[in-house]
Amino acid sequence: MSTATKTFPRVTAKTLFKYKSEGRKIVCLTAYDAIYAAIEENAGVDLLLVGDSAGNVIAGHTTTIPMTMDSMLFLTRCVARGSSKAMVVADMPFGTFQISTENTIQNAVRFLKEGGAQGVKVEGAGYLLSTIKRLVEMGIPVMGHLGLTPQRVNIYGGYPVQGRKEKDAKQIEADALALQDAGIFSLVLEKMDSSLAAKITKQLTIPTIGIGSGADCDGQILVNYDLLGMIEDFKPKFVRRYVEGAQLIRDAVSRWAEDVREGRYPTKDESW
Ligand code: KIV
Repeated sequence: MSTATKTFPRVTAKTLFKYKSEGRKIVCLTAYDAIYAAIEENAGVDLLLVGDSAGNVIAGHTTTIPMTMDSMLFLTRCVARGSSKAMVVADMPFGTFQISTENTIQNAVRFLKEGGAQGVKVEGAGYLLSTIKRLVEMGIPVMGHLGLTPQRVNIYGGYPVQGRKEKDAKQIEADALALQDAGIFSLVLEKMDSSLAAKITKQLTIPTIGIGSGADCDGQILVNYDLLGMIEDFKPKFVRRYVEGAQLIRDAVSRWAEDVREGRYPTKDESW
């Protein structure tokens, strides 16, 4: 079959709409490199988010703020190359989608053309709505992100649960509807009361993807390293660890180190 007649092999925004309409939960997970991307999609992940949480878990910063176009493009390319089935969405880092519509378009286009992503994610609403509309009109799928938006850490002074006051909950609800009208294909709802996330999910025709926002969202997302227990001293309430990854890796590395020190590695069979 020629390339021109092959069907698009990846999950798309359309697939996710279909899943919502069928009541099938959508599985999203962050990935930052080719190996994890391949493992995760082979385990059944529908959407791989190259999150700017890379600032914390890959780069070792205390926030996502320092991530740049170049650093996120590199990670996006790695994830795109390592995967072939899941939808790859690149998180636009702080300062790359707020300056002007033209600048946002240039940056989003780079994530698709150079990064190999099939969509981008932006945090917030309000002033971004007309820009999001332009991106979607151009053919760039946009994922929204409301509730706790970590790029606002310097305004919040931390990472508090959002939408607890009636006025704030109403604003998040209104923003969700406005983002849907602007054309986003799905919406991340982070760290808000489950009842608010459920209410928004019911009102929207696009799928909601929850993180720390209860079970009623259309799908769930976690930072892969959290699910895998790679950061031992970080265990927020909403994270369920399926393996103690840090401990597993430490044990493996320390067994190898001991074998090296004791002269048990390499053996003749492991040498030429
Ligand atoms: O940066 C990120 O990883 C995210 C998800 C956790 C939603 O935005």
